[in-house]
Amino acid sequence: MTNRDMWYLGPNNRLSRRGLLLGATAGTLGAAASAVAPAALAITADPQDTVDLSRQYDFYGTGGQAGIRTPPQRHVFYMAFDLTSGRRADLQVLLARWSGAIAQLMKGETIGEVEPPRDSAVGFDTGEALRLGPASLTVTVGIGPRVFSDAYGLADKRPPLMRALMPLPSDAFDPYYTGGDLSLQACADDPQVTYHAVRDLARIAKATGTAAVRWTVIGFGRASAGKGQSTPRNLLGFRDGTRNIREDAEFDRFVWISDGPDWQRHGSYQVVRKIKMNIENWDTHRVSDQNNVFGRHKVSGAPLTGTKESEQPDFQKMDADGTLVIPPTAHIRLAAHESNDGIRILRRSYNYTDGLSEVGLLDAGLLFISYQNDPAHFEALQARLGASDALNSYISHIGSAIFYIPPAPAEGSYIGEAFFT
Ligand code: HEM
Repeated sequence: MTNRDMWYLGPNNRLSRRGLLLGATAGTLGAAASAVAPAALAITADPQDTVDLSRQYDFYGTGGQAGIRTPPQRHVFYMAFDLTSGRRADLQVLLARWSGAIAQLMKGETIGEVEPPRDSAVGFDTGEALRLGPASLTVTVGIGPRVFSDAYGLADKRPPLMRALMPLPSDAFDPYYTGGDLSLQACADDPQVTYHAVRDLARIAKATGTAAVRWTVIGFGRASAGKGQSTPRNLLGFRDGTRNIREDAEFDRFVWISDGPDWQRHGSYQVVRKIKMNIENWDTHRVSDQNNVFGRHKVSGAPLTGTKESEQPDFQKMDADGTLVIPPTAHIRLAAHESNDGIRILRRSYNYTDGLSEVGLLDAGLLFISYQNDPAHFEALQARLGASDALNSYISHIGSAIFYIPPAPAEGSYIGEAFFT
């Protein structure tokens, strides 16, 4: 596909691609503009934490969308949208155009001309990612509960478990960070690459009159680890992602939808929570108290019942006084699958900061993102955490949304195509 191919709605509501006619000069300029930066390899102090800016992932495939199983990159730009058009065809065209554009962005290419030859023309691609490389970019597209309705002729395509999340203890939502009809989770190892991707995809949504930005969070410092990656830290200073899902069998069991028609299989449900941290308060506490909040040691990440991060926590172990070493209200005790009928979720969170609050405090926290094949799994964990977690004194859930994540499109198709047939 060239960077000027577009999706058009043809007869029988089938979408087809058509290359726009281009002058020779414009074609040359487009090709030059989309050149990928030379391979660049940055190695941090941790040999397990390398960044290869030339690394690229496939958008098309036969399994789940990229950005779920993909080892977490270092930056996220998350954006939720409201549909502004009630027309099913507009939604269909937007998903198709987003898909074509994302496939190019993930290759490190532009999505159109940056500097059109005609003086009066507006650039199609805004240009700030030129020569930055693919930087492991993934853009994961989500569809909110309201979209699966008669209004868009999609009521019969509603994934069986798709619904609004039930109210949970400790919900303290600001409507400004809640809900949405569509979402983009752009992750990459260069923040400017994520920014460019979401900015230019939002421009397409706006230019087509189909969707408008609802809320957004920019995050950094992955707060979760994939297979072979070392465990990073959240803004409370603790290793986050130690006992996360990593193996294929666990993904099959807990993350991917495994039954139903093709358009459901390898789909997943994404839950997003904007969780604000009371950082100044946390910082005044003794580290031993902080360790008890999580049930792990701050520096090593080891459970309080052990000395190595990789050790399994012993939730039964008592100290000499007969009290549980991992306290009853410790975050890991309440969230562990051992306490929740074996339930597990994939966490793929990021730290975020919004600068300072209106009273001059650090305004920061965790953009918690989880993937599961049943939203009730998230609800079960959060019901328990929201009621008793020692961490609740230092956090509040100020934003929340749920999206269905369709499977990756096959080459030549687009996200959600099966909904429209
Ligand atoms: C700001 C909010 C949160 C922070 C700072 C946080 C931090 C942590 C940390 C440091 C760990 C221990 C290391 C690890 O195994 O990853 C952990 C574990 C875990 N967290 Fe959270 N978490 C937060 C919110 C949540 C939420 C909302 C959920 C789900 C509803 C959740 C579910 C889990 C699970 C399932 C584990 C693994 C427990 C285990 O099996 O040992 N966390 N979290």
